[in-house]
Amino acid sequence: MSDLSATYKRLLETQKRIATLGSVEGTLEWDERTYMPKEGAPHRAEQRALLAGLRHEWSTALEIGEMLTELEQSEYGGHKLSPEAVNIREWRHDYDRLVKLPKELVEELTRTATHAQDAWIKARASRQFSLFRPWLEKTITLKRREANYLGYDDEPYDALLDAFEPGAKTREIAVVLSQLRDHLVPILKAIAGSSLKPDVSILQREFPPAAQEAFGRQVAAAIGYNFNCGRLDTTTHPFCSGLGPSDTRITTRYDEHFLNPALFGVIHEAGHGIYDQNLPREHWGTPAGDPVSLGIHESQSRLWENMVGRSRAFWEHWYPQAQKAFPALKGVKLDDFYFAVNEVKPSFIRVEADEVTYNLHILLRFELERAILNGDLTAADVPEAWNEKFHAYFGLKVPDDATGCLQDIHWSSGYIGYFPTYSLGNLNAAQFFDQARADLGDLEEMFRRGEFQPLRKWLTDKIHSQGRRYHPEHLMEVVTGKPLEATAMVNYLKRKFGKLYQVHFTV
Ligand code: CO
Repeated sequence: MSDLSATYKRLLETQKRIATLGSVEGTLEWDERTYMPKEGAPHRAEQRALLAGLRHEWSTALEIGEMLTELEQSEYGGHKLSPEAVNIREWRHDYDRLVKLPKELVEELTRTATHAQDAWIKARASRQFSLFRPWLEKTITLKRREANYLGYDDEPYDALLDAFEPGAKTREIAVVLSQLRDHLVPILKAIAGSSLKPDVSILQREFPPAAQEAFGRQVAAAIGYNFNCGRLDTTTHPFCSGLGPSDTRITTRYDEHFLNPALFGVIHEAGHGIYDQNLPREHWGTPAGDPVSLGIHESQSRLWENMVGRSRAFWEHWYPQAQKAFPALKGVKLDDFYFAVNEVKPSFIRVEADEVTYNLHILLRFELERAILNGDLTAADVPEAWNEKFHAYFGLKVPDDATGCLQDIHWSSGYIGYFPTYSLGNLNAAQFFDQARADLGDLEEMFRRGEFQPLRKWLTDKIHSQGRRYHPEHLMEVVTGKPLEATAMVNYLKRKFGKLYQVHFTV
C-alpha cells in the first residue's frame, strides 16, 4: 500500500501548479481589460488559448483521477469538513466536470471569447448589433456543445449554471426569481404612485474624476479593502480579479457628470475584493482557500454597496467628507443626497439600476439565455426579444442595442448562466445582513461612527474564512440557520423604500 500522505502531497502540488497557471491567465485577462492596446487582441487570444489548453491538459491528467480515487477509498482527510477532505471532495467535482470537455473545445471557447469581446466593444461603441452577431452565434454554438458534453438532467442551462453556482438548478432559480418578481411589481407600482421624488440632478453636476478616485480609495480602504494587496484601475466594464494570495485588483469607470457609477461601483468591487483578500491564504490555490460561488461572491459586493453604502447611517459618517471632496455638493442636504442615491426608477442599464428594479434586469437575461440554450431563440433574434421583454417589464422602449442587448460583457466572454448569480447575490446579502445585525447589534450606530470593521470581521469569520467548505445553500443554513429565502430581501426593500417614498408596506 502506498503512503497516502505522500499521495495527498503530490496531488496538492499538482493542483497548486494548476492554480498558479490559472492566475497567470487571470493576469493576462486583467491586462486585456485594462491596459492592452486595441490591436493587441488577436495575439492575446492566442496566448490565452494556449494557457487555457495547457491548464485543461494538466487538470484532466489521468494521474489526478487515480490519486483522487486512492484518497477517496481510504477516506483520507478524516472529518469531512477538514481542509483535506474538502479539497478532495471539490477537486473530484471539478475534475469530473473538466474531463468531460475536449481540449479543443476549451481552446476554441477561450479564443472565441477574446475575439468576441473585441467585436462586442466595437458593436457597442457604434451601436451596431450586426458586428457582434456572428460572434454571439459562434459562442452559442460552442456553449451548447459544452452543455452537451457536461450533461444535465433537466435542461442544458443546468450544465452551465453549475460552473458558477455549484449545485444550483435552473428550475429552482426560475421559481425564486418569479416569486421575487411578484413582490417587486407591486412595490415598484406603489413607489411610482408616490408624490415624493428625489432631485437626482444633484448627482449630475461636476465631479472631477481625480476627486472621485481619491474619495473612492478612502471609502474602499475604510470598509477593509487592503491596497497593499490590491489595486484600483480604470476600465469600461468594472470587475474584480483575485490573482494571487496577496494580489486582488478592482476596476471602475468615471463619469465626470455622474457620481454614482464610480462611487458605488468602487464600494461594490471592494466588497468582492475584501472577500478574496480574506480567504485563508495558507490554502491558496486549493478549494479550502477558494470562494464558494458567484452568488456568494456577489452577496459580499451587494452587501457593502447597498445595505451599507446606500444606508443613511453610512452617509451620516461620510457626507461631510464627500462635501469637502466635491464642491458640487455644497449646500445639498444630507437627506436630499441620501434620497437621490436611492432613487427608484425603471431604467435601461443594469449596472446603474436601483435596488428594486435590479432583479427584473436579471430575470430578463435569465429568460433569454434559457431560451437560447433550449434552441427557442437565435442570436439574430436577440435584439427584438430583448426589446419586447424590456417593454413588458419596465414599460420602456429601448432606443438602441447599446442601451439594450449589447450593454453587458458576459455573453462576449462566453459567460452564459452567470446572470442569475447576481440575483442570488442580492438575496444572500439581505439574509446575511439580517444575521449580522442579530449577532452584532446596532450596525447603523457603528456606521454612524465610521466603524466598519466589526461587520467586516463577522463576514470574514462566517463566510470568507470558510473557503469552499460548504456548498452555497449549505453555507446559508450554517450562517443564518435557514435556507435561502426571498423574505429578507423583500422586507429590507419594503422598510427602506417605504420610508423614503412614504408608502406603507406590510412587512
Ligand atoms: Co459584482
